[in-house]
Amino acid sequence: MSAASLPGQPQVHYRGNELFVEDVRLADVAREHGTPLFVYSKASMLAALGAYQRGFAGRKAKICYAMKANSSLAVLQVFARAGCGFDIVSGGELERVLAAGGKGEDIIFSGVGKTRAEMRRALEIGIRCFNVESESELEVLSAVAQELGKRAPVSLRVNPDVDPKTHPYISTGLKGNKFGIAHKDAVRAYRRAAELPGLKVVGIDCHIGSQITFMSPYLDAMDRVLDLVESVEKAGIALEHIDFGGGLGINYSGEQPPDAGVLWQQLLTKLDARGYGQRQLMIEPGRSLVGNAGLCLAEVLYLKPGEQKNFCIIDAAMNDLPRPAMYEAFHAIVPVTRTTVAPATFDVVGPVCESGDWIGRDRKLAVEPGEYLAVLSAGAYCMSMASNYNTRGRAAEVLVDGSQVHLVREREDAQVQMRGERLLP
Ligand code: LLP
Repeated sequence: MSAASLPGQPQVHYRGNELFVEDVRLADVAREHGTPLFVYSKASMLAALGAYQRGFAGRKAKICYAMKANSSLAVLQVFARAGCGFDIVSGGELERVLAAGGKGEDIIFSGVGKTRAEMRRALEIGIRCFNVESESELEVLSAVAQELGKRAPVSLRVNPDVDPKTHPYISTGLKGNKFGIAHKDAVRAYRRAAELPGLKVVGIDCHIGSQITFMSPYLDAMDRVLDLVESVEKAGIALEHIDFGGGLGINYSGEQPPDAGVLWQQLLTKLDARGYGQRQLMIEPGRSLVGNAGLCLAEVLYLKPGEQKNFCIIDAAMNDLPRPAMYEAFHAIVPVTRTTVAPATFDVVGPVCESGDWIGRDRKLAVEPGEYLAVLSAGAYCMSMASNYNTRGRAAEVLVDGSQVHLVREREDAQVQMRGERLLP
């Protein structure tokens, strides 16, 4: 009996030929709840959070989970109960945090396009900070806050112009990106923020990209940001906190990103050397807290041998798992029950009517119709990016806690999808 975890998946392992998450046999879960089904491990989420918490031991640090990675209420609840704050990017995310038990003082609001209505709601519930991304946003936020008789706490997202060495679609800290305020304009923007009557400057913020697997871009970005902290404070504007964003990568296919605790030891050494080690720190990790805590179970519907390719058609598709179609991303795919069937090479595809609907290419699998597969590393940017394309209901979700399985989202049916639509008279 081998019970070794799969690489990068601390809570996913085979016992004999059966795949488990924590103490739960996935074949049983798939039979009971149907497929496609997202399965999350609570222990794995808490372990990922623990690495950051260890890195920050003895420091003033707030971990604000970037909930765009996975905004399911039960996931938010796990992090809220563990003392996390939240990084949000919309009014919808704000309502989700409140529904999961989060408090305004634990929420920071990022994003380039906040609406007045979103700003108003965030001010009403007493949000911790707005991460502002442009000078025009500063003007609007100040006006909205004044209408409410409040001062909005703001941090400016600066663009450190550092290459995170990741996929171009998920790089955000370069000059050509829509995000952040250019390094050269930052002091001017801070001066303006300090003048505006509806604002109170509280911090500085940066985020350079996602799925970053090296330390060097973080170390470079930190130097660039600390240079700005110096300049802003020389201009007489005090900064209570420094927010270094998120972006730490995970192991999808053998990548070896630094452990969060080790990364932060290095970053804290630099902060100490430059005299900022005792400042209030904030971070906004998303993927690294949930990515490898989740997988998606799917049933093999048909095997379709072809002249050039063999296809393994499963019941999960690009609407459930959009990352391969969007970024040519790799997710490992493994059988839920290992069998003695002869393996063959397949493109694993879904039922959606698009050639882009593939989940894995050229995968060696020993499978037959009716068996279950697990698409790994599916805890981040899968369910939160899922759509109803082809009027496919979004998948159900369960959260595993030891030997317990909690259904945390029902499968969406067609009636739910049509709710809110109107037929013509
Ligand atoms: N903070 C800000 C301002 C962000 O824009 C993001 C992610 C994060 C934090 C969290 O980054 P993380 O720790 O998760 O890397 N859908 C893409 C990823 C998009 C990331 C967008 N911003 C994917 O599936 O790879």
